[in-house]
Amino acid sequence: MIEQFKQNRDLSDDELKILIETDEHESNLFKAADAVRRENYGVDVYIRGLIEFTNYCKNNCYYCGIRAGNSNVERYRLASDRILACCDEGYDLGFRTYVLQGGEDPYYTDDMLCDLVSEIKRNHGDCAVTLSLGEKSRESYEAFFDAGADRYLLRHETASEEHYGMLHPDSMSLERRKQCLWDLKDIGYQVGSGFMVGSPYQTTENLISDLRFLQELQPAMIGIGPYITQHDTPFRDFPSGRLDVCLRLISIIRLMFPYVLIPATTALGTIAPNGRELGLSVGANVVMPNLSPVAVRRLYGLYDNKICMGDEAAECRMCLQRRVEAAGYKIAIHRGDVKLKVESGVAV
Ligand code: 5AD
Ligand code: FES
Repeated sequence: MIEQFKQNRDLSDDELKILIETDEHESNLFKAADAVRRENYGVDVYIRGLIEFTNYCKNNCYYCGIRAGNSNVERYRLASDRILACCDEGYDLGFRTYVLQGGEDPYYTDDMLCDLVSEIKRNHGDCAVTLSLGEKSRESYEAFFDAGADRYLLRHETASEEHYGMLHPDSMSLERRKQCLWDLKDIGYQVGSGFMVGSPYQTTENLISDLRFLQELQPAMIGIGPYITQHDTPFRDFPSGRLDVCLRLISIIRLMFPYVLIPATTALGTIAPNGRELGLSVGANVVMPNLSPVAVRRLYGLYDNKICMGDEAAECRMCLQRRVEAAGYKIAIHRGDVKLKVESGVAV
């Protein structure tokens, strides 16, 4: 089955269900995924410096620790000069991509964000800027793109309407989220999407819908990580997602999308001490360490027990280098754009 999967880059829903739910084919799956990753990216691991610049959020997703309804979190916003200083520090550490991530915070106007993006590009012309600011209008996305933003991360979270409704209040809709993703793609961004594994009420069928949606969207990056309990959310009593299921999904995604960028996420490193190394060894090829000032790190608590809370950017960078090399891979110092192979006019 795995050989056929590797050849066709697809399987039936029934076959996917077996790969997701059981460990029957697990070791072959992991090996095949690493082989495909090496064919396309060698041992390179791409790095992105993550700057979590605001933990204000107007949304109320039931799983997320910085949801508007959580009054136990101390809120912060970073001013532009602090964000720019993080980028400068990141540059010296070898980062050539900055990811500006935040809650949906209307305090930052489009003009402020455009100025910030163009300033980063002016200071570091050889770097890519990735935005991860949630749902915005097409006009806003266009303005950021014109200011120089290269990429945008927006996980769809779950591709099932019914499941989406169980994770979010009625004010949010899957349809709108998907429209944002199509708009971003159409504008010309390299788009990243993804979902949580093991979120409350999730079924294997939901996960298969996630994979089918991603086959339609064909994003440049697919970020997945385990759902992790956060003690101040309505989902506080639900258990975190499973490491083995996450790893199998990373491998499945690698075989379906040979060229896609797959991060070994912080959430994966949180549920297991060597989670990110394991992710890299089964198909992931990106890591996104934190460049945010240590003073605000612990306030960006999407979930409990997040790793790297007390570590300076330079410490994280060195720690990561050790981990990547111990796993048998190598950090690449460049923008780390997705590699696209075009066969008969169609990107595969
Ligand atoms: N556990 C794991 N991941 C989470 N995210 C938000 N809350 C949690 C949680 N409790 C993820 C979402 C979001 C990304 C920034 O973090 O998928 O898109
Ligand atoms: Fe941050 Fe290890 S990557 S301390």
